[in-house]
Amino acid sequence: MAPSILSADFSRLGEHIREVVGEAGLLHLDIMDGHFVPNITIGPVVVKKIRQVCDLFFDTHLMISDPATYAPQFVQAGSDGITFHLEAVAEPKALIRQLRDLGVSVGVSIKPGTPVGELDSIIELVDMVLLMTVEPGFGGQSFLPESPQRCRELRGMLREDQRLEVDGGIDVETAPVIVEAGADTLVAGNAIFGQEAPAEAARAIRQAALG
Ligand code: DX5
Ligand code: ZN
Repeated sequence: MAPSILSADFSRLGEHIREVVGEAGLLHLDIMDGHFVPNITIGPVVVKKIRQVCDLFFDTHLMISDPATYAPQFVQAGSDGITFHLEAVAEPKALIRQLRDLGVSVGVSIKPGTPVGELDSIIELVDMVLLMTVEPGFGGQSFLPESPQRCRELRGMLREDQRLEVDGGIDVETAPVIVEAGADTLVAGNAIFGQEAPAEAARAIRQAALG
């Protein structure tokens, strides 16, 4: 489980994160620049502050137009993994090399409209693929029905040691469907932090996914 803090209460973020730590394998951080997506979230300053209160793996999802320029600042702030969007970069291989040099885990993400085949030439170079199961930009959207088929195709392209993470509209209903299709890491925002009891909500999604 990778809880996304996008749906957390930012006025008590530390507290909210501590509530789910026991149920989380990673903490998913959604970085938006108002350009690659029509929304703006947090920057390295906030990531650095969260780093002081949380030891989880920071799974940093860059929904920004210029990941090459800003990735070092997020690594400096404490990100353990950096995921960039394939649609945002002209030279993905160069960016992957740059991220390797920074010493972080490397992920690549694709939006719902991007054919999975566009990952062909770089997929062997990354540690994980982040499949968007909603249009990136906002939390609380509905899971797109074509996602399981895309997930299955991707799983067939990945090695055993590469992770396949899914992001958007994951809840107790959609989690088992997407795990059956090959996903191993589930991002969930609204279905965790949008609930009265976030830790219990995360546990319920995990249990539903495991069947
Ligand atoms: C959307 C973000 C997601 C978002 C998921 O652009 O990448 O990580 O927080 O939120 P839910 O789980 O509410 O769909
Ligand atoms: Zn995300």
